[in-house]
Amino acid sequence: MPAPHSDPFLLREAGPSDLDAVVRVDVRSFTRHWPAKEFANHLEDPLVRIWLCEDSTGPLGYVHIRVIVDEAELLNVAVDPSARRRGVARRLLGHAQTHAREAGAERMFLEVRRDNEAALALYRRAGWEQVGIRKRYYSEDGADAVVMSIDLVDDTLRATPSQGALDGSIPGE
Ligand SMILES: CC(C)(COP(=O)(O)OP(=O)(O)OC[C@H]1O[C@@H](n2cnc3c(N)ncnc32)[C@H](O)[C@@H]1OP(=O)(O)O)[C@@H](O)C(=O)NCCC(=O)NCCS
Repeated sequence: MPAPHSDPFLLREAGPSDLDAVVRVDVRSFTRHWPAKEFANHLEDPLVRIWLCEDSTGPLGYVHIRVIVDEAELLNVAVDPSARRRGVARRLLGHAQTHAREAGAERMFLEVRRDNEAALALYRRAGWEQVGIRKRYYSEDGADAVVMSIDLVDDTLRATPSQGALDGSIPGE
């Protein structure tokens, strides 16, 4: 049995044998989810990394990024509906940011639906800022995308975690 305050979550990099777990979370998280073939290709792509967060019950969520030289892109983060609001996405996001910085990225970007309040709150709380809007970006319903970005090398972000923790931690936790 874990110690009372031990972290119940394990973060680990996904490999080809994790395809089903990643797709399962994706299907349960998005109306319009990514094709399994695309994830399979990404699991083999050296520029793309996917990490899973799991507990004793199995995989709970994943984060999916691409790093190209000094820029990183957050392709997706998703948490199974049964495991939300337990800090899983915050951990995955912090881990992805740390990895991207260590891989040489100075900034990270993402696109998120303008009506995705949960994701917007997650990113803002982690220190991401809006840098643009892509009008009618999502072809299925014409929703706009908010383009967000975070500076991965700004020391002040690491000094004030509540504004942008690179390790996903929140002060006092
Ligand atoms: C967005 C998503 C990844 C958040 O996952 P999560 O594990 O529940 O998030 P966390 O528990 O780590 O939340 C971290 C912070 O994000 C914010 N947040 C997360 N979910 C929220 C919600 N439903 N409403 C408001 N704020 C929310 C809060 O500030 C939260 O901190 P708090 O719980 O201490 O208040 C999850 O809702 C999800 O998988 N949604 C569907 C997929 C998706 O839209 N992905 C983003 C694509 S761009």
